[in-house]
Amino acid sequence: MRGKFITFEGIDGAGKSSHVEWLADWLRARGKTVQVTREPGGTELGEKLRALLLAEPMHLETETLLMFAARREHLARLIEPALARGDWVVCDRFTDATYAYQGGGRGLDRAKFAVLEHWVHEHLQPDLTLLFDLPLDVARERIVLANRTLDKFEQERVDFHERVRLAYLERAHAHPSRIRVIDANQPLDKIRVKLEEVVSSACL
Ligand code: TMP
Repeated sequence: MRGKFITFEGIDGAGKSSHVEWLADWLRARGKTVQVTREPGGTELGEKLRALLLAEPMHLETETLLMFAARREHLARLIEPALARGDWVVCDRFTDATYAYQGGGRGLDRAKFAVLEHWVHEHLQPDLTLLFDLPLDVARERIVLANRTLDKFEQERVDFHERVRLAYLERAHAHPSRIRVIDANQPLDKIRVKLEEVVSSACL
């Protein structure tokens, strides 16, 4: 039986990454074999593309094409074989991030993503997408508190991140059965209870 494909999304500073490993362990405790991965990245080549994408200034269409190139590699080498084996794949970001960042944030025409999405994964969508949502000022504060070097996207202005957030919420509105919005502005234990509830009802 094909495994399930769960993706995590949200603006920078939403705290989603800390829940990825936790969810994988929770699923493993329920007998699933789980692959944890991320985008851009997840393969040797994908991680090299990630380093470029997160650091180098580049034309918006180059950025979008490289995101999808890394995704094609990721699907071919990791995601599709894992799902075919019956493993579950928990992925930190996927195509919804391109809609939110390159579309919402940077304003690239969405018709262009539709072509790339069709090309790269016509027959595959996540079974469930967990969208971690919280107000911009809380997310920004978390990033400042983490006190590390900011990548190219984190360095963008507040209005960029506001557009990313809105684009994510619009996408959740357009795909209500796949994308579930998680209120990320609450204590960790409350978020985990919510994650258990959502994943149990959607996937188990
Ligand atoms: P991360 O910080 O969640 O690991 O994600 C890396 C950055 O890449 C994040 O700021 C969002 C950005 N990104 C895009 O702009 N488009 C995409 O398609 C993906 C997957 C990520």
